[in-house]
Amino acid sequence: MAKKDLVLGIDIGSYSVKICQLARSGKKYQILALGSAILPDEAVSDGSLEDAEEVSKVINLLIKNLKLKNRKVAFSISGYSVIVKKINIAAMSRPELEAHIDSEAEQYIPFDIDDVYLDYQDLHTAGSGNDMTDVMLVAAKKDVVDRYIEMLAGLKLTTKIVDVDSFAFENAYEFNYYGHDNVALIDIGASKMNINILSNGISVVARDVLIGSNHLTDEIADNLGIEFEEAEEVKLGIRQVPEEQDSIEDAFSTICTKWVLEIKKAIDIYQANNPSAPVERIVLGGGGSKVVGLTDFLAQETGLKVERFNPFANLDFNSKKMDAAYLKSIGPEMAIATGIALRSSVV
Ligand SMILES: Nc1ncnc2c1ncn2[C@@H]1O[C@H](COP(=O)(O)OP(=O)(O)OP(=O)(O)O)[C@@H](O)[C@H]1O
Ligand SMILES: [Mg+2]
Repeated sequence: MAKKDLVLGIDIGSYSVKICQLARSGKKYQILALGSAILPDEAVSDGSLEDAEEVSKVINLLIKNLKLKNRKVAFSISGYSVIVKKINIAAMSRPELEAHIDSEAEQYIPFDIDDVYLDYQDLHTAGSGNDMTDVMLVAAKKDVVDRYIEMLAGLKLTTKIVDVDSFAFENAYEFNYYGHDNVALIDIGASKMNINILSNGISVVARDVLIGSNHLTDEIADNLGIEFEEAEEVKLGIRQVPEEQDSIEDAFSTICTKWVLEIKKAIDIYQANNPSAPVERIVLGGGGSKVVGLTDFLAQETGLKVERFNPFANLDFNSKKMDAAYLKSIGPEMAIATGIALRSSVV
């Protein structure tokens, strides 16, 4: 596939926009450009574009700074407006499924079927003595998706693919680790944690938990009686407050414990359904996963291997322009943008 066929991967989070541009030659991919820019508060909330003008300005500036020429883009969505569900239905041929999918999907989707974009994939689990098959359904609210597409179109960017956050993370993971295992992929962003436990490349347990790294900042702000902005600096270690060390540690412990409990709950549900294929490891993405001590704490609590994700592990890059240690440090929050950029344009 030619270099020009790759899209620009854009992950529009509630805290920041991340962009990744790759080039491909044969099976190898090279990182051409990477960048992120912080968004104003509330410009993106619960996966929905609230302030298109502000977000558009930030993306425009980021694209200019990165000197990107590619106008073909892909972005991903998550939150209340997208439903991902595995359903079990009578196995049928492709054309039959195409004709029936709307009526099959209707009962599983809490929105009017005319208001969503529907996509699906037959997992072909039917076999001898089993005439039922699993189908992965994805439904996304048209108005929410269209608002992103229009905002990007205003910047002369043409959307080629609309991805789902957890699928993009999975795509980046599978590219870097060559294939499938039983793994919990966990993205901790600013406003939410997304848990996706895969067995052999198929999502078995997927859930969003509305506790993100902002909650840690809020907890620090409450414990220390300071403003959110100051608490954010304390969280990131930019501002030192040695006399408040105990209160700061309490805040970290409170929020990390909440994250770990939710992760353990999801793993328990997975194990109950898949006792013969236990989870082998936990892989963390998202800026919120960079809290010092979280990987060790999670490993201790679950007894599993825990690592921070580096989506660039198998990508080539120009070492004169990019530094391996820097790439590793921004890896967790770039997981989704990289997973999107690894998709080949379909148009
Ligand atoms: N070293 C760090 N330690 C702790 N937290 C960090 C660190 N670096 C970044 N963060 C936090 O990570 C969050 C941003 O992560 P990320 O970029 O993944 O969020 P997002 O994708 O914009 O949000 P969401 O996915 O929830 O909409 C912010 O709350 C930021 O404070
Ligand atoms: Mg995110």
